[in-house]
Amino acid sequence: MTSIVLKQESPLQTAFQSTIQSIFSPDVIDFWASHLHPTWSWQRPLARIIARKVEGQGSITLTLKPNRHAKPFLAGQHLNITTEINGSRVTRSYSPTRLPQQKGVFNITIKRVRGGKASTWFTEYAKVGQVVELGEPFGEMTLSHIHQKHLFLAAGSGITPFISLIREWVTQGTHGQATLIYWAKTQAELCFVDEFTKLTNAHPNLKVHYILTQEKSENQQFNERINSEILQTLISDLNEHVVYSCGPANFVEQARQFTQQTAQEFHGEAFSIAQLDAETTEYVDIQLTKSNRSISVPVGQSILTALEAQGIKPASGCRMGICNTCVCTKQAGTTEHILTKDQDTETGSSVRICVSSARSNVTLDL
Ligand code: FES
Repeated sequence: MTSIVLKQESPLQTAFQSTIQSIFSPDVIDFWASHLHPTWSWQRPLARIIARKVEGQGSITLTLKPNRHAKPFLAGQHLNITTEINGSRVTRSYSPTRLPQQKGVFNITIKRVRGGKASTWFTEYAKVGQVVELGEPFGEMTLSHIHQKHLFLAAGSGITPFISLIREWVTQGTHGQATLIYWAKTQAELCFVDEFTKLTNAHPNLKVHYILTQEKSENQQFNERINSEILQTLISDLNEHVVYSCGPANFVEQARQFTQQTAQEFHGEAFSIAQLDAETTEYVDIQLTKSNRSISVPVGQSILTALEAQGIKPASGCRMGICNTCVCTKQAGTTEHILTKDQDTETGSSVRICVSSARSNVTLDL
């Protein structure tokens, strides 16, 4: 496995830092350091945007140069990236991609989501020279070193961890077989097509299939959403594969249903949570002990979304149940995982409120 290499501090540096920190607060040091250089910071991981390019219709790739506090990441992982938009700090998760030819920088590719605050800022307004804050890397969807056959199922911007994993697979010598099936609405929305063409020409054991759901072309075999017929036709030996899936929640759930029983392993990450049925009329109460508030929320809606709708802004990051930024303790009540439908009735359990809904009155330490 390879990752971005960052410098380690010596004991002398550590002692010097402890002395300075006992005199000045890190915020004061950061304030003055940022006037000297945009990414100088006492301890905050920051990165400067050094390039931007259009990747596909509605998508942009930003190249970021991190400072020495940024943590290394593995291909397929995610980072929380925070920026300030209209005076508020906004955090979202993106899957960083190493650049094999350029050490010490990484890319993130962002697709604009209609009405999306962060994606609109990154795709429309983020400029070269601006600085963002980085979180710790997280996520388990890294390249398997046990199995030799990899099947990547991507929908829309779910392609971003897979360009990373496929580059990693190439860097490690292209052992076994890798197949990518990539769903998009139109040809124009596809990302990384030129790179995939070069890679498939260079490596016959890499296959890439594009499926366009809102456009037909002569050489297109399928144009439907994911189903078992597509998978059986394109992958005859699914039982020998490890499957990775990334896309909207419904896509990942269907990928799981169609492959999990047969494949060697299944890894799925959804970047959006299924929306609540608009006709839901059942409500329960959530008691927030730290802020001493009680609010009424719809059953089935993510607790995070419900709190935000009422002007409460708990800490959050990926909004897909992976980074643990939104975890809080449930002191009473029953919650349900929105994707798996597993219910949690235990007192004192940790709840990721971005992927949990309340099934009864619930008390949280928020
Ligand atoms: S915001 Fe990342 S787990 Fe909830």
